[in-house]
Amino acid sequence: MLIAQNEIEENGFLDVDIDPTLDLFAEIERLKKEKNAIILAHLYQEPDIQDIADYIGDSLGLAQQAAKTDADMIVFAGVHFMAEGAKILNPSKKVVIPDLKAGCSLSESCPPPLFKKFREQHPDHIVISYINCSAGIKALSDIICTSSNAKAIVNSLPKDQKIIFAPDKNLGAWVNKETGRDMLLWNGACMVHEIFSLEKITRLKVRHPNAKFIAHPECEEPVLRMADFIGSTTQLLAYTKNTPHTEFIVGTEAGILHQMVKQSPDKTFIPAPPDNSCACNDCPHMKRNTLEKVYLCMEYEQPEILMDEELRVQAKKSLDRMLEISAQLGL
Ligand code: 13P
Ligand code: SF4
Repeated sequence: MLIAQNEIEENGFLDVDIDPTLDLFAEIERLKKEKNAIILAHLYQEPDIQDIADYIGDSLGLAQQAAKTDADMIVFAGVHFMAEGAKILNPSKKVVIPDLKAGCSLSESCPPPLFKKFREQHPDHIVISYINCSAGIKALSDIICTSSNAKAIVNSLPKDQKIIFAPDKNLGAWVNKETGRDMLLWNGACMVHEIFSLEKITRLKVRHPNAKFIAHPECEEPVLRMADFIGSTTQLLAYTKNTPHTEFIVGTEAGILHQMVKQSPDKTFIPAPPDNSCACNDCPHMKRNTLEKVYLCMEYEQPEILMDEELRVQAKKSLDRMLEISAQLGL
């Protein structure tokens, strides 16, 4: 079949009809074997995708898996910056993503030309960037971090080191508070974690006095102040599994509830509601991926992540630095 590049550019995926009688789970397993492919899925993906994945995790875990896989094809069920990160680490492997338009509001809040100017205004600062950024920002950064290692990475630098933290102002403010630093923050934010409703969470806490409120550090400071536990998606999942508490109000994207319920079927999980008419909070970017699109991207090996080699090499330095520091710290 001739791949319609303009269609992929327009839609973000190949819009091919799939025989409705096809067992997509069996087909995807067949394609994994045939093509020596690995499916890496973020914890915000829809349940079917999590169930067919070879590895499910947070951004750090996914980057670590991408760095060590010997598969020929990486199917990245996540958003664009994640699949791009896998390509940065694996230039010779084919990296496909179910939907090329699965973006990220945080990544988009930090355009490289503007950030370059900002960086030039502060030549004595080191740049630590959250992994939720484009290859262009990674290339302008000294070290990458994720929500699970941000504190440790900042703490690994001398106390008097001046630091720019980009692009998430909420994660940056939380790290500043936790480490006693005064990092200069880029003014970016995640559209999903910014809209949790303080009022609705307060009401839920009153109605469920034994529930622990757990939150992702991309949430705003007033929401984080209410939290009993703060961590990356993998850390939140581990907390719910390992603590003796049995009821949780979950302040992050609702896709994570699938693993929480699977790992602790006898516990109760209540998604924290956003400041709109919805009962839970979905990331519109993460949720562009579907099981059908996973099948199509494996069958046709499109959309594929392609990168300028000079940019890739430059972006890899800060990503490698994160992986090295994380390995040294046993993270
Ligand atoms: P982590 O999975 O690293 O906690 O990040 C959450 C997120 O928003 C990814 O886009
Ligand atoms: Fe980006 Fe927020 Fe969606 Fe994560 S949840 S991919 S940070 S928009």
